[in-house]
Amino acid sequence: MKINVGIVAATGYAGGEAVRLLSNHPNVNLNYITSRRLVGKYFHSIFPNFRKISNLKFEDFDIEKAKEKCDTIFLATPHGVSQDIAPSLLEVGLKVIDLSADFRLKDKNVYRKYYKKEHSIPKLLDDAVYGLPELHREEIKKADLIAVAGCHASSAIYGLYPLIKADLIQTDKIIVDSKTGSSGSGASINESSHHPIRSNSIRPYKMTGHRHTAEIEQELARLIPSNKSRDYKVKIGFSAHGVNLVRGILSTSHVFFREDIELNEKILIKTYRAAYKDEPFMRFINQKTGLFRLPDPKIIIGTNYCDVGFQLDDHMNRIVVLCALDNLVKGTAGNAVQCMNIINNFPETMGLEFVGFFPL
Ligand SMILES: NC(=O)c1ccc[n+]([C@@H]2O[C@H](COP(=O)([O-])OP(=O)(O)OC[C@H]3O[C@@H](n4cnc5c(N)ncnc54)[C@H](OP(=O)(O)O)[C@@H]3O)[C@@H](O)[C@H]2O)c1
Repeated sequence: MKINVGIVAATGYAGGEAVRLLSNHPNVNLNYITSRRLVGKYFHSIFPNFRKISNLKFEDFDIEKAKEKCDTIFLATPHGVSQDIAPSLLEVGLKVIDLSADFRLKDKNVYRKYYKKEHSIPKLLDDAVYGLPELHREEIKKADLIAVAGCHASSAIYGLYPLIKADLIQTDKIIVDSKTGSSGSGASINESSHHPIRSNSIRPYKMTGHRHTAEIEQELARLIPSNKSRDYKVKIGFSAHGVNLVRGILSTSHVFFREDIELNEKILIKTYRAAYKDEPFMRFINQKTGLFRLPDPKIIIGTNYCDVGFQLDDHMNRIVVLCALDNLVKGTAGNAVQCMNIINNFPETMGLEFVGFFPL
C-alpha cells in the first residue's frame, strides 16, 4: 500500500533531492510539494533533470491541505522555521521528518548556545528522534517526529561511533576535519558561494564553533558504555572546509587509542566489520592496495551509501578515520527516506538501492 507524502520547501537542494528519491519510491505517492516563491510552477522548471518525468507543481504551504493530502511530511526548510510549523503538523496527525537542525539537540541550553536563539517548543526536543537509522532504528519505528542528522555530523558520527561503542579510543580529544561540496550550503546565493570566490579553492569556513559539533558530541556521548569506572567525556574539535565539488563530504577524524590498550589493527578491523556488516548502506573499506583503498566521495555521489575506512599511524598511536558520503543523500534526504521506510515498516532499503557512477 502506498503512503501519501509531501515536501515543504521543495525548491531547495535538500527538498529537491527528497523529490528525486521519493519520485521513484514504489510505496510512495508524492503529491504535495511547497514553495513560497514558485506556487503554480512545475518542479521541473527549477530542477530540469525532471523534464518529462514529473508534472508536480509547487503549492503554498497550508496545514489543512497538508492534512488532507499527506500521511508523512518532509520539512526541508532552513533552521528556525521547522519549529514553528512542526507542532501543527503533528497535531493533525502527520508524521514529520525534519531535515533541518531544529529538533536534533536534546538540551535547549545547548541549542541556545549554538543557534543563538531560544527554542520555541523545547518539549519537542524530548519527543524527536535523531534520524540516524544505524543508531536509532528502534526509536525511529515508534517516532512521530524525526530530526534527520546534519550532513557533516552524519559523516563524523559514522566514522567514529564503532570506536566509541567498543571503548577503544580516548574520547576527550577527537579532531574532525571535514570537507564539503558547495551544495551543502543550499541553493540561495551569497558572496561566499560566488564562483570566483568558491572555485579552485579549499576554503576554511568554520574552524571552530561549528554547529554540528553539538550533535556529534551528543550522539557519541550516548554510546559511551555506562559501566565505566573512569569519567569519560566526548569532546570534539570540528573544523569545516569548502572544496571544489558540488556534492560530497569527506570527514577525516584523528583519534588516539586508549592509553591502556595496545595499538592493534586487527581489533580495529574487527570492530568496524562488526558495526557495519548488517548495515545495508554502510561499507567498511579495508583494502591494502588500489586507487580507492580509502573512502572517497567520488564513489558514493548520488547514492545512499557511506564509505568508512581508517589508517593506523604507529608513529604516534593515532587512528586516522575517513568517512565519505553525499551530503544530499546519506547526509540528508536519503537518511530521511530510510527513516520513513523504518516508520512505515517498509523494507529499509526501498527506493534507495541505486548504484553510483563510475567513472564520474
Ligand atoms: N544542503 C545540504 O547538503 C543539507 C544537508 C543536511 C541538511 N540540510 C538542511 O536542509 C534544510 C534545507 O537546506 P537546503 O540546502 O535545501 O537550503 P536551500 O537550498 O536554501 O532551500 C531552502 C528552501 O527553504 C525555503 N525557505 C526559505 N526561507 C523560508 C521560510 N522562512 N519559510 C519557509 N520556507 C523557507 C525556500 O524555498 P521558497 O523560497 O521556494 O519557499 C528555499 O528554497 C536546511 O535546514 C539545511 O540545514 C541541508
